[in-house]
Amino acid sequence: MAIVSSGFGQSDFKSSKRKPRVLDSSPLLDDEKSHREDGLRPKRLDEYIGQSSLKEVLGIAVKAAIGRGEALDHVLLYGPPGLGKTTMALVLAEELGVRCRIASAPALERPRDIVGLLMNLNPRDLLFIDEIHRLPRVAEELLYPAMEDKRLDLTVGKGISSRLRSLELPPFTFVGATTKAGALSSPLRDRFGLTQRLEFYNFKDLQEIVQRTAGLLDISIFEEACFEIARRSRGTPRIANRLLKRVRDFAAVRGSVHEIDKSLVVEALKLHRVDNLGLDESDRRFLEFIVDVHSGGPVGLDTLAAALGEDSVTLESVVEPYLLQVGFLKRTPRGRVVTPTGRLHMGLKKIS
Ligand code: ADE
Repeated sequence: MAIVSSGFGQSDFKSSKRKPRVLDSSPLLDDEKSHREDGLRPKRLDEYIGQSSLKEVLGIAVKAAIGRGEALDHVLLYGPPGLGKTTMALVLAEELGVRCRIASAPALERPRDIVGLLMNLNPRDLLFIDEIHRLPRVAEELLYPAMEDKRLDLTVGKGISSRLRSLELPPFTFVGATTKAGALSSPLRDRFGLTQRLEFYNFKDLQEIVQRTAGLLDISIFEEACFEIARRSRGTPRIANRLLKRVRDFAAVRGSVHEIDKSLVVEALKLHRVDNLGLDESDRRFLEFIVDVHSGGPVGLDTLAAALGEDSVTLESVVEPYLLQVGFLKRTPRGRVVTPTGRLHMGLKKIS
């Protein structure tokens, strides 16, 4: 068992005999309200479009947990950015009727940061931590006994007078999200009762999401225009909603018709250099570099990162997943290779 110093000195314990005083953790907490109040996120499972197997698995787990009057088991959500991991955590809290506390892993630098979060939980609360592959080691080690035994192991004081104190935590649900499940340590990965991958959305689901968002934003748009946005959204709701807003701007300034149609979408997204499959400048630079400079590959990730001025983690977890999904890129042991389909798309679809 790893015992990690809490970072609390003896003086932190003066105010209470039973419990260490915990510093206010609010600066670390992302505001749950601000996450909910963009007004566009679905609130309940039945409003959440797509990800049918994820919804089914979590729906059953939620019902069972409620039936037993217990906290939901810890959940690991992984997959490319923008697919709805935070949204799902908020939906789970809503379904469970509990608070959702939200934090980002890299912000939990000092032991007291994670201690503050854990000690401020109410029974059955949901604690959502994003980017858990970037969780500092000390936070991770404090989480192990918290997840497994609802126990917080603190070392109090310094030097020879230091003592171990274990505190009991209320039952809670930890939801961890990551774009890089492979980068998690196995002790952390093993402590999740439910591990679920979020998949890219199909066009039909994305079209429905665009229609739903258009309704919420009071945007008049034809169904086939929604489909055109969906087609260019890289399987990602966050991108679909962003493109819809750019199309809305374009329509407001340049459009002459009341209801947004397909040709207006095409025109607006041409301005933003998004092609008919949703590839943008960074995708094209990525593919072009491999084709033009390395005759289609293979090229190592670090070479690509250095040449394109991006970091390799971003390339691997943000740029590449969609290119792999549409079959434009292959990962081989010797590096990245652009496929014949990828070449064809590039040749045909260069935006002038
Ligand atoms: N908005 C963004 N993602 C969504 C989803 N999966 N379902 C409904 N609305 C959304």
